[in-house]
Amino acid sequence: MKAYFYDNEPGDQRQDHDSGRPADAGYLSKLGVLYHHCPSLSQVDALAAKRSYRNRDEIVVSPERMGDAYEEKVKMFFNEHLHEDEEIRYILDGEGFFDVRDESDEWVRIRVEKDDLIILPAGIYHRFTTDRNNVSAIDFIQCEKLG
Ligand code: LAC
Ligand code: NI
Repeated sequence: MKAYFYDNEPGDQRQDHDSGRPADAGYLSKLGVLYHHCPSLSQVDALAAKRSYRNRDEIVVSPERMGDAYEEKVKMFFNEHLHEDEEIRYILDGEGFFDVRDESDEWVRIRVEKDDLIILPAGIYHRFTTDRNNVSAIDFIQCEKLG
């Protein structure tokens, strides 16, 4: 996991857009964003049980799997949005970026890759994109709705 402030430069959302200003895990946790490295699925299961997540679902975001719908889907994920419940994503493969808005409305970009688990608090504005290697499949385990 690597996090930094987004540079807000125009251009493909899948580029790094690294402003050079880092955001550390402490800063993220102040925003309520939690990060765990989970090389084993049992760690994910334990966390899901502890936080009483109900549903689980797997999404593969890749041109191979999605075909023509891929570009459209990637744009859709990058539309800024929020959820009533927290959002938890476990990256089974590949890599991508979650952008979250901080209290001054600045975008903080979080790079995630295989075995990274990220929890976004309810009500935080965020968006997601694959990176330049779109070739890598990104799988999510998505657990939502607090029990
Ligand atoms: C979602 C992520 C991509 O809501 O933010 O599925
Ligand atoms: Ni979301």
